[in-house]
Amino acid sequence: MGVVELLYLIGLMSYGYGQNCREEEPPARKCENLCRGNGTCKIKAALLLPKNTTFDASLPVVEPIFELAMQDDVVRNAFPPWVEFEWKRYDVSDCDAAYAVISAIDAYNDCSHVFFGPSCDFALASVARITKFLGKTGTPLVTTGGFTFDFVQPKQNCHHEYYMMVRSGPLGFKDMAYFIIDIMRHYDWRQLLLINEPEAQVHVAGKSTCLLMMKTFANYLKKEDIIYTPWDTTSDGGLNYTENLKFYLGYKFGWTRAVILYETPGYMLFVGASGGYLMASSIHQYMLFEGINVYGREIQPRQPYKELLLENVGNNYASEFRLSLYYMA
Ligand SMILES: *[C@@H]1O[C@H](CO)[C@@H](O)[C@H](O)[C@H]1NC(C)=O
Ligand SMILES: *[C@@H]1O[C@H](CO)[C@@H](O)[C@H](O)[C@H]1NC(C)=O
Ligand SMILES: *[C@@H]1O[C@H](CO)[C@@H](O)[C@H](O)[C@H]1NC(C)=O
Repeated sequence: MGVVELLYLIGLMSYGYGQNCREEEPPARKCENLCRGNGTCKIKAALLLPKNTTFDASLPVVEPIFELAMQDDVVRNAFPPWVEFEWKRYDVSDCDAAYAVISAIDAYNDCSHVFFGPSCDFALASVARITKFLGKTGTPLVTTGGFTFDFVQPKQNCHHEYYMMVRSGPLGFKDMAYFIIDIMRHYDWRQLLLINEPEAQVHVAGKSTCLLMMKTFANYLKKEDIIYTPWDTTSDGGLNYTENLKFYLGYKFGWTRAVILYETPGYMLFVGASGGYLMASSIHQYMLFEGINVYGREIQPRQPYKELLLENVGNNYASEFRLSLYYMA
């Protein structure tokens, strides 16, 4: 969040085109116009983010970046001298959807012309659905969030659900889904077990981040005809991990070799510092027990995934030996 979003904002403002998504004219706001009689204009922005720094995009983190961005020549020169920019912060408690809506209403009543945030997917969905109705031509919403697949659908007119929303982040869950799909294609793999802890990684996109990621994966895996089995680790059916692994992996797919790539920080928050390792090692042990030839490897943040795969999986290795890959995050 920062320079890029401000440039988006300027893009939106200078485009100067908007539709009224309501059938009737909305009640006029005194402050609808950016420009005052004396030839000066002011853009009022609202930061709709949580104060809680558990979330990656929080007020204490984003506000200083905004301040820095405003001092940057690129941004300063992008505004004509007669345009002022001002922002106000609104705490979206716990990145929650209900608080997000009420913050957006407060911000609208305070005459905001543009929203920055929310960034958590559920909160964003609630606000981004109504923002096209706020004000005469809708209120633009710029966010680094919006990872779930719904948010990457077209947003060009009032009929589109999230019209008036701009995602400024470079990556969505769809991109990650296609990363996996490309690997599957590359090695000619056909089946996938998605191991998922629904409420993990809340700092990224708020409540149910992993669940939403899995839903996105499922959406595109289906589309690409890749068979997948989802395993939600919180619904254990009264069985422990070992038993559940047996159930989900079984010999149902006839796998004989496997590589487990796991990320320790992924499970740190929930299972303790070595959570990822513990889970990976129980999978590992289970596989050894079942006579599956397995290789486990912790993902190092600095090593690109492609390199990691080539190193651990190798070219042409996979399909020949019916190798399977587990990626745990
Ligand atoms: C224009 O009007 C606004 C408020 O009406 C005032 O705050 C601002 O100082 C004025 N600017 C100039 C250049 O007169
Ligand atoms: C911040 O959010 C996290 C996750 O929702 C929560 O566990 C924590 O209690 C919150 N902290 C404060 C100070 O509200
Ligand atoms: C899981 O349950 C099985 C069967 O009840 C038991 O033999 C095994 O020791 C358990 N494993 C763990 C890690 O608790």
